[in-house]
Amino acid sequence: MCGIVGYVGNKNAQDFLVSGLKRLEYRGYDSAGIVTLSDEGTATLIRAKGNISNLEEKLAQNKRNDKIGIGHTRWATHGEPSEINAHPHQAGKIFLVHNGIIENYKELKKTLNEHEFKSETDTEVLAALINSFYKDGQHPLTNAVVQALKLVKGTYGIAVVSELDPTEIVVARSGSPLIVGVGHDETLIASDASALVGHTKQAIYLNDGEVARLTKNSIEIKTLSAEPVSAKVEEIETNLAAIQKGGYDHFLLKEIMDQPESLTETLRGRIHAEDGTVRLGGPGLSETELRKIKHLIIVGCGTAYHAGLLAGYYIEKFTPEITIETVIASEYRYRQAYIPENSVALIVSQSGETADTLACLREIKKQGVKTIGIVNAIGSTIAREVDGGTYVHVGPEISVASTKAFTSQVVAMVMFGLTIAQAKGVRNSILRPYVSEIAKLPSEIAKVLESNRDLVQEIASQYKDFEHAIYLGRDTAYPTAMEGSLKLKEISYIDANAYAFGELKHGPLALIDDRFFEIAFLPDGELYEKAVSNVQEVLARGGKIVAITNVDKFDLDVENVVKIATELKIFAPILMNLISQLFAYYITVAKGLNVDQPRNLAKSVTVE
Ligand code: F6R
Repeated sequence: MCGIVGYVGNKNAQDFLVSGLKRLEYRGYDSAGIVTLSDEGTATLIRAKGNISNLEEKLAQNKRNDKIGIGHTRWATHGEPSEINAHPHQAGKIFLVHNGIIENYKELKKTLNEHEFKSETDTEVLAALINSFYKDGQHPLTNAVVQALKLVKGTYGIAVVSELDPTEIVVARSGSPLIVGVGHDETLIASDASALVGHTKQAIYLNDGEVARLTKNSIEIKTLSAEPVSAKVEEIETNLAAIQKGGYDHFLLKEIMDQPESLTETLRGRIHAEDGTVRLGGPGLSETELRKIKHLIIVGCGTAYHAGLLAGYYIEKFTPEITIETVIASEYRYRQAYIPENSVALIVSQSGETADTLACLREIKKQGVKTIGIVNAIGSTIAREVDGGTYVHVGPEISVASTKAFTSQVVAMVMFGLTIAQAKGVRNSILRPYVSEIAKLPSEIAKVLESNRDLVQEIASQYKDFEHAIYLGRDTAYPTAMEGSLKLKEISYIDANAYAFGELKHGPLALIDDRFFEIAFLPDGELYEKAVSNVQEVLARGGKIVAITNVDKFDLDVENVVKIATELKIFAPILMNLISQLFAYYITVAKGLNVDQPRNLAKSVTVE
């Protein structure tokens, strides 16, 4: 949600800021801006509504060779997307970029009568507040920032520069990530490591409550209460190939097609098909602790929540005496839920920064419950705050809609479930089929994607003018249907909802008419015949069904069928979800919409 970049060094700051903002555009893209300072301290502030290319057009008329600057790409929270609301915001001689939300900005604003507010943003209030302590340079910038932040309620990742000292950037974070890139005679900042790739491999991840003064060859970090912090320099793992489109038209298609490789990374060293076992190092639970687990809480938002639901369906099939509760983080954080003894919480997040998920993690930890992260972004806040964890290692997801992370999150959680089952002494003959299917998943995914891509594209084009869709499934195909409907609505804007097949006749069946089409997930298995009867009910009411099945002899008279040829039985729903991903992608392309940056959304939701 929003992106921050900053540069101080000997090179052209505009160049880094623009290239960094382009890399972060997926985080927010309704307006953008940069400010750079000349050696004498003259500021050039350029902002534009819309995406970074609009900013670039303006910059082409205002080329500067300044060596210090900060930039921002915005996803609006306070105030509509417009040039005036875009960051950086100015107050006196200082300029500020900010990710997060200042919750008490209205009260603070009342105390800042000397500043003439131009925007509707909470960020400008923070800029004015910092300036009120800075008093046009009478106090060091770092002190002014610290004094202001002590009055702030909310979340922030910020970067501040002043015309009075064009050699320093002050940064701080609380609840919104900030990374300092350590270069040779240059220091860079970014809210996401992808902006730093190709510039430096060394980074310092700021912690909540820390503030840093950066110059081109010094980094001084302190806490808000002035305790010095000795910085830990870490290696950035992302590489350039991982953040480029690699020949595909869109990041989304690249990320869908990447799944054989990304899942291979998730499985590396963890799955042992030869003896039918799983070995996970990260959770850090002893055999005794694993054996004692009686209850699993799985927490996530959106796609991560769906991954948790699907994994929960699987884990309860092979793990005895365990209850599983998958919850939506934004709800759970405010519930007064009782957590039974011997519970473990799985905290699921691709970005590792989602505000609601992070808040749940902190609440759950307060109750003394062990927390295990199922996270993708290395070094992210959730990854650092959980007691143990399993990184999914899928590499950066740039497209806003989550695809490869979902597949790997499900499998990582199933592997955690298998680890519990092993410790509880479940017979290898029961667990082995799961392990052996997981080991085969990457190659089956490759087959399914390659062999169905064209067919799905053709089918998708038939439904591009529909306004409503219903996704249907039962058992493991039900969370699969939920995830499919989310993917469709978020990128194609087709109103899509998911129902458990068994719920149809309790209400949703009334919807079926010409304006709707239905996607039915029909995996082979015990409940297949029941699901087929449900399909008949829809057909009898004139439903237009697209069936996705792995049953070769499927012969119902539906409008379209995608038959998945696979030897996998247990994890066929994961393969069916690939069809949903391709379907959503191709329908969105057919509608001519922005696939990678759907309206109103941002990749990492660091505000509540
Ligand atoms: C949907 C999507 C979102 C995220 C959700 C959680 O395609 O991307 O629903 O899954 O915002 O994000 P993370 O996993 O980063 O916590």
